[in-house]
Amino acid sequence: MEATRRKQLGAYYTPDDVVRSLVSWAARSSDDRMLDPSCGDGRFLVEHDNSVGVEQDPLAAAVVHERVPGCLLHEGDFFSWASGTHERFECAAGNPPFIRYQRFTGAVRDAARRLCAAHGAEFSALSSSWAPFIVATATLLKPGGRMAFVVPAEIGHAPYAKPVLDYMTENFRRVQIVAVRDKLFPDLSEDCWLLYAEGFGESTDRVLFSPIERFSYMSRPPAPSRSIAVAVDELHNWGGRLRPFLMPAESREAYRILAHEGIRLGDVARVGIGYVTGANDFFHLRPSEAERWRIPKQNLLPAVRNGKTLSRGRITSEEVERWQVNDERVLLLRIKRGERPNRDIAKYLNSPAGEEAREAYKCRMRDPWYSVPDVTVPDAFLSYMSGRGPALVENSAGCVGTNSVHVVRLTGKMKRRELARSWASPLTELSCEVEGHPLGGGMLKVEPREASRILIHGTGTLKEFAEPVQEGIRALRRWRHYGEDSGQV
Ligand SMILES: C[S@@+](CC[C@H](N)C(=O)[O-])C[C@H]1O[C@@H](n2cnc3c(N)ncnc32)[C@H](O)[C@@H]1O
Repeated sequence: MEATRRKQLGAYYTPDDVVRSLVSWAARSSDDRMLDPSCGDGRFLVEHDNSVGVEQDPLAAAVVHERVPGCLLHEGDFFSWASGTHERFECAAGNPPFIRYQRFTGAVRDAARRLCAAHGAEFSALSSSWAPFIVATATLLKPGGRMAFVVPAEIGHAPYAKPVLDYMTENFRRVQIVAVRDKLFPDLSEDCWLLYAEGFGESTDRVLFSPIERFSYMSRPPAPSRSIAVAVDELHNWGGRLRPFLMPAESREAYRILAHEGIRLGDVARVGIGYVTGANDFFHLRPSEAERWRIPKQNLLPAVRNGKTLSRGRITSEEVERWQVNDERVLLLRIKRGERPNRDIAKYLNSPAGEEAREAYKCRMRDPWYSVPDVTVPDAFLSYMSGRGPALVENSAGCVGTNSVHVVRLTGKMKRRELARSWASPLTELSCEVEGHPLGGGMLKVEPREASRILIHGTGTLKEFAEPVQEGIRALRRWRHYGEDSGQV
């Protein structure tokens, strides 16, 4: 299948061992009717005679007809079928499409959200498709029913994982997640975990959690090594995230004690995304270009254009001077709303490059097109995508920052220098791992909301907890494939 189409459909087919493990656990007798809500080429259906599949892709559906001649296949969107069907199943197994919110749109997403909301699971428009797939599938089970599914590892941290875990624990007697460190899908950048649930119609107050190094065929999930209470004292305290439970218990306990009444970045600063120009190359000029077009100095601001610039603790005027000597494209053309561009600027705006830039989506959406909004000089920048961890860099040179970095504005409770010093502590390092999330390929990402939760000061003495803190950092980095055993330090 062509790569874009594959991505659009979330069509990544499951390895045989995983299929057999999930089906053999979910379907226990030949009378059990099994549903696969996104059956692809039918590889789950073929493992159990009494199966029903749903598939939107006609090419995949054609393969199913050939491969599993006896099975009942509904061609089309699962959510519209699920909203109308009266069929109910003893079990379900499969691998839902992982389609991010940018592509999971329109009527399909609306039907998904409506159906889940009717069953008490509210998903925001930013949810990835797998989450409503899991909930909607569960709603089609008979009392006592079971389901076994591949899920992305983001079930351990994404905001939309929480309604899934809430729904599962409120509606199943037993819910288990198997976290697998080695890749389940060799050609998918995403890590995948497994979800097992049984006893539909009952409820539980805990999620059973089994981190394992690598997957091999298993007729039932491994014995859970952690039993996590959903309520106040455990999962809830970690923002509903399972990821912190990949750390040893001592590290979680150390973090919990240090975090108690500790100071988080959001207590002393506002973190946001940088400005969006819509046409970066047009709005960022090289010093030589600025001179050639005779752009006045007051309309040019030095800009941080990417996180890589943020390797050192501070951006100084000497550094900005160096960018300029190297004639880097770092001068933002800043024309405030209501300001009339002078003749020289107008010439630049009307140049062929300007004609092209004003057609860019973001430029068309604002008035006037050449006034870039949300440009401020922050106290510090934060890289939001990094290997080892996000860098916090003091802004001592009056720079502005594009949306390739986060901007940090202090609210007056802490000095810039003090914040930068605190950032260097192992507690903050661990906190970045706990509050941020893996992005594949060893990268860690922190959204502004996550950055606001990063601890910059703990309660009590860090010395006492030095070892469990280091252990926690090591464990979470290993799980995001960054660390000694991934060849990166
Ligand atoms: C991750 S693949 C899994 C296929 C198969 N179950 C397997 O594991 O090998 C997801 C499948 O969902 C299908 N799909 C995507 N959106 C769908 C929808 N709204 N309704 C039904 N199927 C859908 C895709 O075409 C793709 O075949």
